[in-house]
Amino acid sequence: MATFLEVRDVKKSYRMGKFLVPALRGVSFDVETGEFLSIFGPSGSGKSTLLHLMGGLDRPDEGEIIVDGSNILKLNDDKLAELRLIKIGFVFQFFNLLPRLTALRNVELPLTIAGVPEKESLKRAEKMLRLVGLEDRMNHRPSELSGGEQQRVAIARALISNPKIVLGDEPTGNLDTKTGWEIVQLMKKLNEEKKQTFVVVTHDPHIAEAANRIVHLKDGLIAGIEEAPKGR
Ligand SMILES: Nc1ncnc2c1ncn2[C@@H]1O[C@H](COP(=O)(O)OP(=O)(O)O)[C@@H](O)[C@H]1O
Ligand SMILES: [Mg+2]
Repeated sequence: MATFLEVRDVKKSYRMGKFLVPALRGVSFDVETGEFLSIFGPSGSGKSTLLHLMGGLDRPDEGEIIVDGSNILKLNDDKLAELRLIKIGFVFQFFNLLPRLTALRNVELPLTIAGVPEKESLKRAEKMLRLVGLEDRMNHRPSELSGGEQQRVAIARALISNPKIVLGDEPTGNLDTKTGWEIVQLMKKLNEEKKQTFVVVTHDPHIAEAANRIVHLKDGLIAGIEEAPKGR
């Protein structure tokens, strides 16, 4: 399989007053095109830092991140923003939907920003909401939806631009066990049907095990990579 994303000896620290807090202390692995990878570790192990770097939301102190052939350290801010817009979809723990917009308008928004005409953007947003099982909820605002439904809207929004990779930071972290499992199964279905690459960060072993491969993170280092865990 081809490699879609490379993480090479990545280090990242945060400055807290006069101290440097190490978050990643030299992390290397590849993400293969089309795989469903989970990054698993306890709180504080560096998962969010790693995912943000992989998505070009921040830059490493040392090491390299190569996304679909582009070394993100060599891109200026505009080129990096373009890469994020075109190739990457993000899903977060707290959904980050705009409260005043309907589900349909939330999903449509990335296309509006990209200048897609409204007739087409609405059509695509409707199609995407149907794909995540929300055809009956298109005109609801986030406050009128359950947590699981809000995350489905966020997933539809992440996928609307047809990104090559979807990055999820604890996408089930704010949901009950059953709903969280449904959301991870939805992401797996989309991964299989649309052949998009998925990387999901979680501290929940049950969610991590839904993946094809698990990267175990501990104290900013890789503690092991588990291939095709149980049931796969
Ligand atoms: N903005 C920040 N400023 C200072 N320290 C941070 C910041 N973000 C994360 N950290 C620290 O970096 C380490 C890794 O954090 P994080 O990547 O959020 O881990 P996780 O997502 O696994 O909980 C932790 O020790 C955390 O306190
Ligand atoms: Mg985190």
